[in-house]
Amino acid sequence: MTEADDLLPADPARRRGLGATAAWMMLASLGAGRAQAGRTGTTPALAFTPVPMTVEAPLAVPPGYTARVLYAWGDATGQAAVPPWRSDAVPTPAEQTLQAGMHHDGMAFFPLGGRGVLNGRHGLLALNHEYTDERLLHRDDASLAGGARTPEQVARSQAAHGVSVIEVRSEGAAAAWSVVRPSRQARRITARTPMSVSGPAAGHALLRTAADPEGRRILGTFANCAANATPWGTYLTCEENIQGYFEPPAELDASQRRWGLQAGGRGNWARWHLHDERFDLRRHPNEFHRFGWVVEIDPHDPTMTPVKRTALGRAVHEGAATGVSKDGRAVVFMGEDARFEYIYRFVSRDRVRPGGFAANRDLLDHGTLSVARFDAQGRGRWLALTHGQGGLTPENGFADQGEVVIRTREASDRLGGTKMDRPEWTAISPVTGEVFVSLTNNAQRGKPGLPGADAANPRAPNPTGHILRWRHGGDLAAETFQWDIVALGGGETAGDAFSGPDGLTVDPFGRLWVATDAAPMLEAAPGERLWLPRNQLLACDPVAPGGPQMRRFLVAPPGCEVTGPVITPDGRTLFLNIQHPDPGWPAPGGRPRSATVVVTKDDGGVIGG
Ligand code: FEO
Ligand code: CA
Ligand code: CA
Repeated sequence: MTEADDLLPADPARRRGLGATAAWMMLASLGAGRAQAGRTGTTPALAFTPVPMTVEAPLAVPPGYTARVLYAWGDATGQAAVPPWRSDAVPTPAEQTLQAGMHHDGMAFFPLGGRGVLNGRHGLLALNHEYTDERLLHRDDASLAGGARTPEQVARSQAAHGVSVIEVRSEGAAAAWSVVRPSRQARRITARTPMSVSGPAAGHALLRTAADPEGRRILGTFANCAANATPWGTYLTCEENIQGYFEPPAELDASQRRWGLQAGGRGNWARWHLHDERFDLRRHPNEFHRFGWVVEIDPHDPTMTPVKRTALGRAVHEGAATGVSKDGRAVVFMGEDARFEYIYRFVSRDRVRPGGFAANRDLLDHGTLSVARFDAQGRGRWLALTHGQGGLTPENGFADQGEVVIRTREASDRLGGTKMDRPEWTAISPVTGEVFVSLTNNAQRGKPGLPGADAANPRAPNPTGHILRWRHGGDLAAETFQWDIVALGGGETAGDAFSGPDGLTVDPFGRLWVATDAAPMLEAAPGERLWLPRNQLLACDPVAPGGPQMRRFLVAPPGCEVTGPVITPDGRTLFLNIQHPDPGWPAPGGRPRSATVVVTKDDGGVIGG
């Protein structure tokens, strides 16, 4: 990790990047100040021809737009020369650590260059590689039979997880984006990269292991799903479904059951424990507590040690949208993507300072974590998850704040947070300060013994999901909020039908972009059935006359989910990720590859018009 405020980057590109983050901070603060403004009149209407779901092209965008693959699994990051990716070959683990990992997911763009916040032609893209398809990765079905793995396969799998940081640039025409190779700033972070731990659980007894008796140094991050940029220019990557990577003990405790560990190891698809004993909970039970965190990475410094920020709670983390309160503190909104789990907020104790990560290296270690309660009549309240308050006491099993954040779910149960329909991404509007969350689905709501419908989760069951928003009366740190539902999946609200809302971003003009992750579904419109065979990206003008309306911008390749949408600060480039496509994409006949796709308008204009 680099040291303190004395760090004046030697690399001019990095110095410019830090300058840009100050402008981002200003923008985020501006948005917070405008919360509650409602229909500001500053959000331009969407102006593109929607793409029909019946389109035949493997990846379809509106007329006048072009989509191109930029960075696919196996492509070089730019750190060092590696053999080109081949459909009929398998990379060594060492090669895989210099290439794009598998299953691209959350992503953020960090502008570089001299035009500050409006620059959209040169920057760093940080993106997650959520998980692996082991058969595709190793190309050796026979060796995987019965759950077997070789040491090399485990090493390759761990190398294909984590995060990429790549440098991207557009030369001349807007569509001419490419990955800069070589790049001094390119980096891969994997399931073996050393990380530090900070916040209330750092050094906690529940984080100590034989290999790390102080509980302060963890190897790797994995199951990285959603992600966000902070106003001070860092990347927050969120560890989500960690439970699929551990071999559990014969007898599960209540917390392990709640996390979905399965007796007999039935849920352990990764099988890493066969050659990396830290994933064997029978030998190292505390390893499980060392994952499920939000990890902060400074993408501008390839030597930086990533930090697990335990003050933000341990969860099936999905998203960490970060803004700035009225008085300048950092505010992070997070969903937990599991049925009947929660939405969280963290408000820092200290204010965001200019100067990038060096000036804010402890910002996310001190503050208040809360869980959301959505009440009737569109009202809501944040309930503080603070040790000693609300029954979070030793008598109730919470020895200290470290234990509160390690067992965030149980603490939230005690406080009475609202059990939601799988909260996925969160996004903050830079124009209005509204916060959006996608609730992807919950087919279990209303089933015997499980919660029924409530105000914020109004459908039982809820197979197609919904999008909800809230506002804080001008201050993202306010204790109360007002909420409403933006759109219901399954075609129950205005505009193009969708199902399984997941990735979210708000563009610089306040328009919401929604990526879907849904199985093909039958729409339940009365007397009508509509097949949605492919996932999609939709745009939504939240202040449109007559209410929010969804409009389909992109139809994705068969079999994939769409994720990671991010729009550059000038509004002229959209990056998104295609995850787990069927065979035949992106190249006919080859192994399917998850990939980052760049979309531009042919006349160089703003995405969405
Ligand atoms: Fe990895 Fe909740 O999607
Ligand atoms: Ca997701
Ligand atoms: Ca999902």
